[in-house]
Amino acid sequence: MLKRTNTCGELNSNYIDEIVRLNGWVKKSRNLGGLIFIDLKDRYGFTQLVFDPNKNKEIYNAAKSLRMEDVIAIEGCVKSRPTEMKNQDMKTGEIEIEIKQLEILNQAETTPFEIDNTIEIHEETKLKYRYLDLRRESLQKNILLRSKLYKIVRDFLVENDFVEIETPYLMRSTPEGARDFLVPSRNYKGSFYALPQSPQTYKQILMIAGFDKYFQIVKCFRDEDLRRDRQPEFTQIDMEMSFVEEEDVMNVAENLVKKIYSKLSNINIDYSFPVLSFEEAFSLYGTDKPDTRFDLKIKDLSNLFSDSGFNLFTNVLKNEGIIAGIQIDNAQDFSRKKIDNFTDYVKSLGASGLLWFKYNGEMLSGPAVKFLHKNEQDNLIKEINFKNNQLLFIIAGEKENSLSILGNLRLKIADQLNLINEKDFNPLWVIKFPMLEFDENEQRYIARHHPFTSPLEEDMILLQENPEAVRAKAYDLVINGNEIAGGSIRIHKRSLQKKVFNMLNISDKEAEDKFGFLLQALDYGAPPHGGIAFGFDRLVMILAGAQSIREVIAFPKTTSALSLMDSAPSVASEEQLIELGLQIIKNSEEN
Ligand code: AMO
Repeated sequence: MLKRTNTCGELNSNYIDEIVRLNGWVKKSRNLGGLIFIDLKDRYGFTQLVFDPNKNKEIYNAAKSLRMEDVIAIEGCVKSRPTEMKNQDMKTGEIEIEIKQLEILNQAETTPFEIDNTIEIHEETKLKYRYLDLRRESLQKNILLRSKLYKIVRDFLVENDFVEIETPYLMRSTPEGARDFLVPSRNYKGSFYALPQSPQTYKQILMIAGFDKYFQIVKCFRDEDLRRDRQPEFTQIDMEMSFVEEEDVMNVAENLVKKIYSKLSNINIDYSFPVLSFEEAFSLYGTDKPDTRFDLKIKDLSNLFSDSGFNLFTNVLKNEGIIAGIQIDNAQDFSRKKIDNFTDYVKSLGASGLLWFKYNGEMLSGPAVKFLHKNEQDNLIKEINFKNNQLLFIIAGEKENSLSILGNLRLKIADQLNLINEKDFNPLWVIKFPMLEFDENEQRYIARHHPFTSPLEEDMILLQENPEAVRAKAYDLVINGNEIAGGSIRIHKRSLQKKVFNMLNISDKEAEDKFGFLLQALDYGAPPHGGIAFGFDRLVMILAGAQSIREVIAFPKTTSALSLMDSAPSVASEEQLIELGLQIIKNSEEN
């Protein structure tokens, strides 16, 4: 085989007249003025090959029969391209290779789709032939970026005295709120390992073991509904530290992000990330992961309408609801139709309707103006500093729900008005999360983060009387509206852990059964500790400017959790099932 001396992204005018060998895949082939031009590609780039019938007829004929994606090896002489054919946008755009030898290493069948960035290909086809999709430049770039990120993260954490420790994949279930993927045990029929939803319990135990600063770039498994930023298996940068408080963990995480951005995006961040409490985030942005690349903050207008004659408003306020709105600039082009679309949108999220007022510098317009007294209208204009051509959308209703709908509306408006600059980088911390969250499915309170999270010192007294009001020493890092990392200071004393389990309605027996090993370890000198985990795939997605984490994972699953390339999951053989002591219960339709 003609082994390569160089890669396809390397040669330039410094190599003129050198004899080189390249290996790669055949891309575009053009026949111009009796010469054949072929772009040869590998992961480093493209190089233009020239086959001249007058130099070697046999090789020229062989080149004629080359097809896209054939794998070849060549030997040739580096030549300067004629001036008019030089391409400054291409790394190898100054040169071409005059071919002296050609070896066909493997011929390719016609591929199911053309491997070209500009062509839209059906997602399922791309995933089935993932190896072809991965040959596309944009995906190669993402995967290479991902690889660089591993190194930057490792270097940074090792430099900061973190120890990389692997934790088991076959373990007891961890409570991160999702369903577990279970692995049946052959030796202990009827017993199952769980794949880790995160290494949470292990990393806490490593602190008790004295490792002080731990990290791991680790796969986590969660059987939950998938979205553009969720996969059933995903990667975390998982960290834990001893003798720390919230700020210490947040500082390390923030410095890591700064390092990553300076190395990979040439963005030097010389400011501390803004910090919002959960309460502030929710009342200003209607979400715990605000996208602050654009303004459109939510305004609480309840006070303005406390004496309103408008029935809708008085009823909402009587029921301790909220009247809140979003003010939009330059809304002169907002037609009725456009407003109706927004109305349909909020209704689809459960709002009973969307009120709107326009202001033309003199007076308000909109279907609800007639319900407001003149002085109420004047007051509104003054208090919100209503400017000419602004539009105000209002939702009135139950507080949390209305704010959350406004949070979604905010994103929709920003999207439609193109208010987001994709190049922006807007990080922020959200802290002081409520400890509890109501789980609609289970109809009970569960831990918002996880049950090992410590309550805020000042809220300890509420643990028994008013658990819903207890806030946690928990923090999330949000970048451009994506939850990139989340962590907390943990409970390191059994007595407090017991109280929190009680608050979560986890009985002593259940706690002992599930987490007895951790509770016991807490008794043997557990240091105060805390940590955080980054969603590695989400971080790469943002750095790459990708739309979905599927674009930054080499072999992702579909949104219905299938791996189309190797057809996983698949049925187990009868022998495997017998060995594992398992029996499959068929759905009634299948019987
Ligand atoms: P948490 O559950 O918040 O915390 O997860 C940490 C981060 O992991 C990412 N993430 C996901 N990414 C892709 N697909 C998923 N299905 C998925 N689920 C979560 C998010 C999230 O911020 N043990 C705690 C961390 C700690 O307390 O130290 C934990 O796992 O970016």
